[in-house]
Amino acid sequence: VGSADRGSADRLPDGPAAEANERAAGALAARYGHPVELAGSPLNPVIDALLAHRSVRAYLDRPLAPGTLEALIAAAQSAATSSNLQAWSVVAVEDKARKARLSVLANDQAHIRECPLLLVWLADLSRLDRTASALGAAAGANRYLEMFLVATIDAALAAQNAAVAAESMGLGTVYIGAMRNHPEAVAAELGLPPDSVAVFGLCVGHPDPERPAAVKPRLAQSTVLHRERYSTDHEAQAVKAYDSAMRAFQASQRMPEVDWSRHSTNRVAGPQSLSGRDRLREALTALGIRLD
Ligand SMILES: Cc1cc2nc3c(=O)[nH]c(=O)nc-3n(C[C@H](O)[C@H](O)[C@H](O)COP(=O)(O)O)c2cc1C
Repeated sequence: VGSADRGSADRLPDGPAAEANERAAGALAARYGHPVELAGSPLNPVIDALLAHRSVRAYLDRPLAPGTLEALIAAAQSAATSSNLQAWSVVAVEDKARKARLSVLANDQAHIRECPLLLVWLADLSRLDRTASALGAAAGANRYLEMFLVATIDAALAAQNAAVAAESMGLGTVYIGAMRNHPEAVAAELGLPPDSVAVFGLCVGHPDPERPAAVKPRLAQSTVLHRERYSTDHEAQAVKAYDSAMRAFQASQRMPEVDWSRHSTNRVAGPQSLSGRDRLREALTALGIRLD
């Protein structure tokens, strides 16, 4: 919008407002793989930061600034938690040898060795067991699937707060679900008490600018957002469009091209696609977690 338009009542935003609109449009286009109009949606710096998320799998060999870990955990502890039970814990691993051993247990992922900080998030019912025990009371509800779900949800919400906090500091993160490939061995490595289990890891570190990560597009909003009642009316069409968007993304990143629908179908094909996690129930039992 040029200066000639100044004074027009319905002129487009100028200066910083126009720049903010452009940035938002760019961020949304990257998030969905094509330009989208979220007419009138009130974006702000927090949402801008969320839209810019990308998993980082390449880190500099540089330690985190002092106090970073504590700030991340304060952010994590600020998440909502079921009944204020705070049924999660986290083990911060910085020791190189321990990270190397954990990486072997998690499909040998190099970024676990590279990152200066690996946070291992626990669904942790053991503290509630101890708290009840100190009062001479039973904690029988902890034996039920519901409480395991409570602890897992709590851990995930806390971890995501930490991830967002890390990104707000210019750090990169990537979750490590492969921390569930060998739950008993991870528990032994970290000295976990019975009734606690590592549900995932989170690598944290300075992203290597030489190996940058890009924003990965997501499914169209219409596929995940249902208004009033669930509808699959436009799903097949949207998935097809998303297959193309993901192929374009992969090509731009010089990655092998594969449709999202094919990749995702392979990922859920059968027990063999679970990287050993098909025996999770057995592992949980071994760790003192019951799912009655
Ligand atoms: C619970 C969870 C576990 C994950 N596990 C791994 C993992 O073991 N290794 C990995 O490289 N990425 C892992 N990821 C990252 C996902 O692959 C990534 O979030 C997804 O492909 C979307 O990409 P983006 O985060 O860059 O948007 C995990 C993500 C989540 C939420």
